[in-house]
Amino acid sequence: MNEHSTSDASTDVVRLDEGHHEGTGGLPERFENPGLPPHVHRLSDDSEGGAKRAERQVATMFGLSMLATLLFIVAYFAIDRTASIYLPGIGKANALNVSLGVTMGLSLFLIGAGAVHWAKTLMPDTEIVEERHVQRSDDATRDKAVGIVLEGGEKAQLGRRPLIKASMSGALGLFALPFVVQVAGSLGNPTTALSGLRSTLWDAATAQKPMRLVRDPEGTPVKAEDVTIGSVFHILPENIKDSEHVLEDKGKAAVLLMRLDPSQFMPGHAGDKSQSWGYQGIIAYSKICTHVGCPVGLYEQQTHHLLCPCHQSTFDATNDMNVIFGPAKRPLPQLKITVDDEGYLVAPQGFQEPVGPSFWER
Ligand code: FES
Repeated sequence: MNEHSTSDASTDVVRLDEGHHEGTGGLPERFENPGLPPHVHRLSDDSEGGAKRAERQVATMFGLSMLATLLFIVAYFAIDRTASIYLPGIGKANALNVSLGVTMGLSLFLIGAGAVHWAKTLMPDTEIVEERHVQRSDDATRDKAVGIVLEGGEKAQLGRRPLIKASMSGALGLFALPFVVQVAGSLGNPTTALSGLRSTLWDAATAQKPMRLVRDPEGTPVKAEDVTIGSVFHILPENIKDSEHVLEDKGKAAVLLMRLDPSQFMPGHAGDKSQSWGYQGIIAYSKICTHVGCPVGLYEQQTHHLLCPCHQSTFDATNDMNVIFGPAKRPLPQLKITVDDEGYLVAPQGFQEPVGPSFWER
């Protein structure tokens, strides 16, 4: 910075060039106090009619906020969870998510706008300067402070403006309802949450009509011979191309495919399932961490460990993907695979347990 600022030449002079200060005793001298801008009277300060109009405007915003909150609740129950709408510039989006986002955003915005408008038009806007002293004031000062707070409440006209008081209480009170409805409606219901985690696109696979494994994101099928020892593939079910909710379905169906030398699986009971549900050392596991659902994408080729980058849960690929470190509480679910007549890897069934977070087990 290379800036000079001068005030009264006989008193304060402050130089801000390269941190060098001129003044008595080597200490920087203070800027002249610019003071406060002059107070400008507002319409509502001088006219009861203006104040009434401002009151109605504030109450209208709080009222519209209540309406938006009610629309949120209606949308939550009325809109089909699978319905989608087209948004210009964004593309296809879930209609329920859009509706909930818009109504909740409006509800919050209108509460904020109402509060700001109230403060700007009706609350006292005279500036008060208070010097800072020791932290605890004496009793007389504290009593005075309480008096100021009470006076502030009086000046904010809460008592005299019952319309604002009632509409604001309604807007704030109703705003809590969407959270209650959501918790009661889904998050708080383990059965509902679990049913969402139980189904993935792999469920369309059957022994008679097995589903091919395709690379993410290319969508090309994978032959067993392509999967060399030590390699890792990010896999999706081939029916992902037909999905209406690609992001959601991808988030649940993502799979990691890797190949170990069959001698590397832990002998005995451990590792048996890995091998019997795999194909010649090729194994497929859900990529969604069983802690809180991050993608488990770090494969240590030497140790055959899979690492979740979020909280470092570590899964052992040689031992049925059991957890050997970190907060995850259960192994990654395995996807049974085999090959079809053309040598492509296929799944003859879906996951046999829910993928992702295990909060429902607690
Ligand atoms: S989400 Fe994987 S360890 Fe927490």
